[in-house]
Amino acid sequence: MKLNIREVTGFVPEEAIYARKTEALACIKALYEKTGKGSDYLGWVQLPSSIGDGEFAAIEDVAAFYRKNKVEVVVVVGIGGSYLGGKATLEALSDNFWQMKNSEHPKVIFAGQNISEDYLYELLELLETRSYGIVVISKSGTTTEPAVAFRLLKAHLENKIGKEKARDCIVAVTDAKRGALRTLATQEGYRTFVIPDDVGGRYSVLTPVGLLPIAIAGFDIRQLVKGAADMQKATAPGVAFEDNLAAIYAATRIELYKAGKTTEILASYHPKLLYVAEWWKQLYGESEGKENKGIFPAAVTLTADLHSMGQYIQEGLRNIFETVISVDRTAHKLRIPEDPANLDTLNFLSEKRIDEVNKMAELGTMLAHVDGGVPNIRIEIPAINEYNLGRLFYFFEIACGISGYLLGVNPFDQPGVEAYKKNMFALLDKPGYEEESKKIKERL
Ligand code: PA5
Repeated sequence: MKLNIREVTGFVPEEAIYARKTEALACIKALYEKTGKGSDYLGWVQLPSSIGDGEFAAIEDVAAFYRKNKVEVVVVVGIGGSYLGGKATLEALSDNFWQMKNSEHPKVIFAGQNISEDYLYELLELLETRSYGIVVISKSGTTTEPAVAFRLLKAHLENKIGKEKARDCIVAVTDAKRGALRTLATQEGYRTFVIPDDVGGRYSVLTPVGLLPIAIAGFDIRQLVKGAADMQKATAPGVAFEDNLAAIYAATRIELYKAGKTTEILASYHPKLLYVAEWWKQLYGESEGKENKGIFPAAVTLTADLHSMGQYIQEGLRNIFETVISVDRTAHKLRIPEDPANLDTLNFLSEKRIDEVNKMAELGTMLAHVDGGVPNIRIEIPAINEYNLGRLFYFFEIACGISGYLLGVNPFDQPGVEAYKKNMFALLDKPGYEEESKKIKERL
């Protein structure tokens, strides 16, 4: 994996980025020594190198259970950090048309990430004719969206196959001791996995939160974690700033932010990475967007979005910079055929690989955007696979911790997320919210 900041230095001097060296390295030290803000939530920092064989085996055992019992669909119920890591990995590693292709593994789909009545109705309708299992993921165990979805699914599965069999097909991933989901899992006798106390939702992809759905879908969680562990080593205290990609990325972002570039657009030229960008948006948005500060994280999939967002990126408000995840090798090879009629005048592309055209689009776009006033950071990965995704996840996590500290915020809390919940509960007349309920209804 490489980081290229050459196309940033026309906007902020390289010296200014490197001048952050001492500060950035101090942030890494604070993350490891737990001396900075949010120090109760730093369990993810050394997590990759600490996952043992027993933990992998327990997760793989559940995956084997669903496979052996020919479970067709596993519904993973969760939201935010309890959803996006798994979803991102599955989208990135799966065939683009996996929903329409057969596989020896169950099809993993998601629920509890919205409160759409149609989504849940149509899901239950689909599950009527499928054998299925449920993995319910919630650290707090009280989040409304997954709790509502799980109520429906649990009742549906129990009605369909009986309480006993349903119990065998339900797995809960939650806090070791606390919360409604832990209580329910104990009461019902579900198989459970623990989300460590000191790992917050958006940093939990390498816990059973992410690893279980990924293993169930048939992907190699050991390679994923190996990639993360290698990146842990490559970004640990003691690694020189010049060699530490995460420290350089964090310092570069903060210099750009100081120079007025307040929006970062994560771009990729591979639709499979769409949900990696969604995961990244949550990681950076929730970690940095507080105290009236923070870079706004946005994302585009190119070249598709060049035909929608491209105009804005090229010529809109000049407060943006772009970070491109560039993929060196595709999994397959395909060449453009010669067409004797050549009505589209594209015969100059005959026999070229599709990926060559994609790469020239990527290069051409980068130069155009830089010329248009948009600095460009490039993160280069050799290919989309488990190992490289593991590296990428950990790289973004550690860089986010450094970047949050450089910004002066606590990157591990999310106090602002409570505001909507308070209003929603007041509007729904939740017991205990009588006062808020009265006030909000008067306001409306
Ligand atoms: O990053 C976070 O902490 C949040 O996105 C949570 O993961 C999300 O709100 C889900 O919370 P829980 O796992 O408690 O249901």
